[in-house]
Amino acid sequence: MSTIKNSGARCIGILTSGGDCQGLNAAIRGVAKSAIKTFKIDVIGIKDGFRGLIENRTMRLDDDALSGILTLGGTILGTSRDKPDKFPLGNSFMDMTSQAIENCKKMHLDGLICIGGGGTQKNALKLLSKTNEIKIITLPKTIDNDVFGTDVTFGFDTAVQIAAEAIDRVHSTASSHHRVMVVEIMGHNTGWLTAASGLAGGADVVLIPEIPYSIDTVSKDILERHRKGKRFSIVAVAEGARSTEEIKESEKKEKKKKDSQKDKENHCEESTGMRLARQIEKITGLETRLTTLGHIQRGGSPSSYDRILATMLGTKAAQLIAEGVSGVMVAVKGDKLKPVPLEEVAGKRKNIPLDHPILESLRMLKISLGE
Ligand code: F6P
Repeated sequence: MSTIKNSGARCIGILTSGGDCQGLNAAIRGVAKSAIKTFKIDVIGIKDGFRGLIENRTMRLDDDALSGILTLGGTILGTSRDKPDKFPLGNSFMDMTSQAIENCKKMHLDGLICIGGGGTQKNALKLLSKTNEIKIITLPKTIDNDVFGTDVTFGFDTAVQIAAEAIDRVHSTASSHHRVMVVEIMGHNTGWLTAASGLAGGADVVLIPEIPYSIDTVSKDILERHRKGKRFSIVAVAEGARSTEEIKESEKKEKKKKDSQKDKENHCEESTGMRLARQIEKITGLETRLTTLGHIQRGGSPSSYDRILATMLGTKAAQLIAEGVSGVMVAVKGDKLKPVPLEEVAGKRKNIPLDHPILESLRMLKISLGE
């Protein structure tokens, strides 16, 4: 374990990296206010994630800057998906890790708090492997809830509420028009957001990446509802969900083509929801519409739960860095906040376990998982 106990940090930087989510400002505020007020640590805001660290772009995080941000969505620091070791420069990528560390020294930082998802944990660990002088602590955020080593990430609770409300609202129009409504939900390659909001919003079909679905089963389950007099159906589908047929096909394709040009073309391909809605309409003959929730799920004010979680994680990170702890992510474990070594977290993904109570509950309610 790389937890190092030595003299605590005196000046720290904070950055937010990866896709934004609700609670980032609450976390920034939690770290910075407690660092300044309780631990007498100076705090510098680094703009736009690791990009700002490499380009030496900062902002003051004093009382004025930290005031009134608890309830704000997004991040006052800005964010990016840039990685220090694969930084885009012109038409290629450069390893700018040394530059990032050099800039930390220029800023007189002896500590860095990186707030981010799975990618950020990896980037922070890589940075740490190149320096003994800077203490690094990370916080887990993302609407996807897929960060390994923590029970939960902040941003997830608010996104579940938004997606559940969308499913609620789609019910009345689906019922009026006797339609199948497909609601595509974010979550990257995991189904946490879809399963939780599907359960909360009362979806009739819930499709997630962890359970490859059969389009025939999905269509059969919708027709069965129809036969029983239910003249509409709501399908909650995760953006990363795939049918067994699609998985087989993409495995074949992957073997044939591995060039990056193909990857770029994939962005223009039909979305998961579009494909599913088209197939359902074709097989069932029922009028079908798609609603893609997209970035709405990441926007706006955090729920009280996310404000509390992000603030607690932030203040804990400040406490740990003041004690000289480094190389850890502050994780939620039951009702405790615990430092987990970055080596145990980086490069891993937390999928929803197939026996998770949410999935068991969906199954017992006879909500179709397309299995
Ligand atoms: O990781 C959060 C997330 O919103 C995912 O659910 C989604 O796949 C991805 O980010 C979208 O990324 P971007 O905002 O870069 O399009």
